[in-house]
Amino acid sequence: MTQPLRLGIAGLGTVGTGVVKIIRQQAALLTKRTGRSIQISAVSARSRAKDRGVSLSDYGWEDDPVALATRDDVDVFVELMGGAEGSAKAATEAALAAGKDVVTANKAMLAMHGQALAELAESKNANIRYEAAVAGGIPIIKALTEGLAANEISRVMGVMNGTCNYILTRMEATGQGYNVLFDECAKLGYLEADPNLDVGGIDAAHKLALLSSIAFGTKVDFAGIEIEGIQRVTLDDITHAADMGYRIKLLGVAQKTGRGLEQRMMPCLVPAQSPLGVLEGGTNMVVVEGHAVEQVVLRGPGAGEGPTASAVMGDICDIARGLRLPVFGQPAATLEAAPVAQSVLPAPYYLRMALTDKPGALAKVASALGDAGISIDRMRQREHDGDVATVIIVTHKTARPALDEAMTSMDSTGVVQENPVAIRIEAL
Ligand code: NAP
Ligand code: HSE
Repeated sequence: MTQPLRLGIAGLGTVGTGVVKIIRQQAALLTKRTGRSIQISAVSARSRAKDRGVSLSDYGWEDDPVALATRDDVDVFVELMGGAEGSAKAATEAALAAGKDVVTANKAMLAMHGQALAELAESKNANIRYEAAVAGGIPIIKALTEGLAANEISRVMGVMNGTCNYILTRMEATGQGYNVLFDECAKLGYLEADPNLDVGGIDAAHKLALLSSIAFGTKVDFAGIEIEGIQRVTLDDITHAADMGYRIKLLGVAQKTGRGLEQRMMPCLVPAQSPLGVLEGGTNMVVVEGHAVEQVVLRGPGAGEGPTASAVMGDICDIARGLRLPVFGQPAATLEAAPVAQSVLPAPYYLRMALTDKPGALAKVASALGDAGISIDRMRQREHDGDVATVIIVTHKTARPALDEAMTSMDSTGVVQENPVAIRIEAL
């Protein structure tokens, strides 16, 4: 019989314990499907004493993840600690340098060091697999690198952070405040060790950077992404957007333009009844557009123990079966550095502003937009609060720099009370 595949698992938190449970509970199924027994040789975490709700007594223990990564009885190093630097990176490098395959869920590490790690892996004929790093349980890395390999990809977009989608949709559904919902995300195991990465849009941008690299054959370029988190999205905006037939999503888009690769991760309005608009809770969705396939939409749970462990196990099964692929879908040395394009593609925008309720105020705003070449599609005035009225405008398509110019001239009219809120509208 083929030799067992022997794992060293570093990190026994939400994802790591989920992986241990699947290996223990599905041993027969995994062997049947891969033709090999999948075994854990040893594990590592910070605290050996912590009760993790799963028995670890059959496995060796290493305090140091680097020692685990280089053990003779470890064929595959499974990195589930997290963090772009530190132990995760050191142990991953040690495993690759020793010619061992690595499976990881660590988008932060790959977004920052993906190119160097891919080069190291390929120089050692080792593999890095990272399905769990993007969109939790959705097999999007596999879809892009394998099923869609023959397509020239024009656009990749999606909702890729379960925490943000949970908070935004539950705010609308329940009217509950941000802090209550944030605590629920912690209980569900969605949050990063530093939750600012989630709500700041950075975690989702890490994921987008990885998808862009595979889709466009470019070096991972996290620094080239325009990022804005959900911290400034208010319940008022969610309600006004709903009144106009939209929902607010933290949406990532990577698209080739005539001026380079545009990558953005920011709150956007999407039509409420569109596939993206109806996504609830921790669900993620990734949309890929290719010249031959046209459009593929993948939807599924984006975070949490089971879905993420499922994705990790998919990678482990592929390694057990002997499947070997370049890390980003083509040899790392052939990935190109794409010129960065920002705010090139025009879009309609939602504008919320507080206007002084006096004759001519609206005309001044309309003329600031008109002077910048921006046409108004729809407008609503909300109830007054004293002598201030909230006005919502939906523009026709415009470039962001023109909108910024219009907002600057509005500021000098003296009728706009606070900085207007501008949110891009994306259609699927
Ligand atoms: P977690 O619950 O915080 O678990 C992290 C684990 O790593 C803990 O067991 C911790 O040990 C261990 N650890 C941390 N630093 C260590 C070190 N220096 N040496 C040894 N062990 C160390 O995190 P998680 O949610 O499972 O996430 C793990 C990875 O999966 C991260 O890269 C994350 O971005 C990614 N991910 C998570 C999800 C999700 O839904 N949670 C989804 C997709 C991807 P102790 O338990 O002893 O403290
Ligand atoms: N913190 C991440 C999220 C985990 O909320 O989507 C999945 O990558």
